[in-house]
Amino acid sequence: MKKEVILTGIKPTGDLHIGNYLGAMQQMIDFSKTRETFAFLADTHTLNFLQDARQVYDNTIKATAAYIAMGLDMEKTILFRQSDVPEVLELSTLLMNVTPKGLMNRAHSYKDKVAKNEADGRDKDDGVNMGLYTYPVLMAADILIYDSTIVPIGADQKQHVEFARDIAGYFNNVYGEMFVMPEPLIKEDVGLIKGTDGRKMSKSYGNTLPLFGDESELRKKIMGIVTDSASPEDKKNPDESTIFYYYKYFATADEITAFRAKFENGGTGYGDLKKELFEKINSFLTAPREIYNDLMANPEKIEKILADGAVRARPTAAAKLAAVKKAMLG
Ligand code: ADP
Ligand code: TRP
Repeated sequence: MKKEVILTGIKPTGDLHIGNYLGAMQQMIDFSKTRETFAFLADTHTLNFLQDARQVYDNTIKATAAYIAMGLDMEKTILFRQSDVPEVLELSTLLMNVTPKGLMNRAHSYKDKVAKNEADGRDKDDGVNMGLYTYPVLMAADILIYDSTIVPIGADQKQHVEFARDIAGYFNNVYGEMFVMPEPLIKEDVGLIKGTDGRKMSKSYGNTLPLFGDESELRKKIMGIVTDSASPEDKKNPDESTIFYYYKYFATADEITAFRAKFENGGTGYGDLKKELFEKINSFLTAPREIYNDLMANPEKIEKILADGAVRARPTAAAKLAAVKKAMLG
C-alpha cells in the first residue's frame, strides 16, 4: 500500500476575505486537525501576474498569518514557502521535457485568457507569459515531488491535479515507475460565496467581507450589504436576503431559527438585522484577529515558522529530485 501523503498549496493573493475562508481555508484547516499535511504558500505561482517583490512577500506573510490565526493545526502541518524549496523549480524544468505542449494549450486559465483576447480582437497570446502558460507544470512538480497521494483543493483546481497525473504518467512511461498518482479532494458543498452586492465575493469586485482588518471596517462593509426596500414592519423573506445568507455560516441551528423568525415575523428593520449579523461575525473573528495582529506585528515569528517548515520539507523534495535526475541524466 502506498503511504498517504496530503499536500495543498495556497496561492497568496492580497487580503483574505470570508469567501476565501469558507471556500478554501476552512477545509484545509479542518483537515490539518486530523491528518499530517504538507501545506505551502505558492509564492512563485503568483509571479505570472504579480510583479512587485514587496507585494509578493507581504501577501505570503499575510496568508501565512491568516491560516495560523484561523486555526491551522501547527502540530500536524508542515507549513512552508514554495520558493524556500528550490528543488521544486528544478523538477519543474525537468518535467517540461515530458509535458506535451498540447496539454498546456488545454489548461482552463490559459484558454480563458485566449478566449478573452480573441473576443476583444487582440492577438490570442497577448499578455500571456510563460509563467502563466507553464503554471500547471510547476504545480505538477509541487505535487509530485512529495509523492503526494491526496490533494485537497477548490473545484477550480481540479484540472491542474489531473494534469499532474498526466505528467506523472508520461514520465513513468519513459523512465519507469517514479511518481505516484495524486487524487484531488474537492469539497463540493460550499460553492461560491456571494459578495455584499450579491455577485461572487471577490477582491476584484470590492464586495468582500474582510477576515482581518479592524472592526469598524467590517461593520461598514456589513452595513453596506445591498437589500430591498422593505420597511422595518414588513415581513421579509430570509432566503432571499444576503444578511441571512451570511448569518447561517456563523451561527448555531437555534440561533438561525431565531434569526429566521425576525425576518418572517416582520418588525425588525434591515439596519438592526445587519447589526446582529455584525455582532455574530465579529465575535467569531475576535480571537483570530488578535492572533493575526500579533503575528503581523512580529513577522520574525512567521519567518521562523516558514523556515522551520522548509527544513522539514526539503529532504523529501531533495531525495525525489535526486532520483529523477538519476533516471533522466544518468
Ligand atoms: P478572489 O476572487 O478574491 O481574487 P482568489 O482567486 O485569490 O480570490 O481565491 C483564493 C481561494 O479562495 C480559491 O481557492 C477560491 O476557490 C477561494 N474563493 C475565492 N472567492 C471565493 C468565493 N466567493 N466563494 C468561495 N470560494 C472562494
Ligand atoms: N494553483 C493553486 C491555486 O491557485 C495553488 C497551488 C500551487 C496548489 N501549487 C499547488 C494547490 C499544489 C495544490 C497543490 O489555488
